[in-house]
Amino acid sequence: MSSQLTRILKKAVAIEEESFKLYTLAQEKAKLASSKVFLKQLADTEMEHKRKLVGIMENKAQLLNLGGQKGKLEDLKIVDYMKDIARLSDDASYQEILTYAAQREKRTHDHYVSLAERFQGTSVGDLFEKLAEEELKHKMELEKEYDDNLLREN
Ligand SMILES: [Fe+2]
Ligand SMILES: [Fe+2]
Repeated sequence: MSSQLTRILKKAVAIEEESFKLYTLAQEKAKLASSKVFLKQLADTEMEHKRKLVGIMENKAQLLNLGGQKGKLEDLKIVDYMKDIARLSDDASYQEILTYAAQREKRTHDHYVSLAERFQGTSVGDLFEKLAEEELKHKMELEKEYDDNLLREN
């Protein structure tokens, strides 16, 4: 494996670890049990993504049942036109965490799409294509959670 590809995969692993941390932190901020379950599932998915990336680095565990169940999900585009949150403060509210996380998922999706194009036709390209799909799904799920929470509070 080229060192450039190794660097790309390592960066993706770091992204997945960061996502895992974010959803673990968010579980503490969430009030509803259903929110905690949702965030725990997201954290687990990110761990699974990391595992797939590491697997491909070690050149085993070829593809790839990522287990993305394809339910119908609507892209609410809530965060698309919001100002980007650069970083989260320690006292960030649950809503801010959800916004930040959804924006981050969108960026990760875009990053993986470009990698999927770059490595098109290879197992690495296939992996990034599947990961991109899942990150977009995460973004939409986070927006739904955001929306549900707003409705509950108002
Ligand atoms: Fe991920
Ligand atoms: Fe994600």
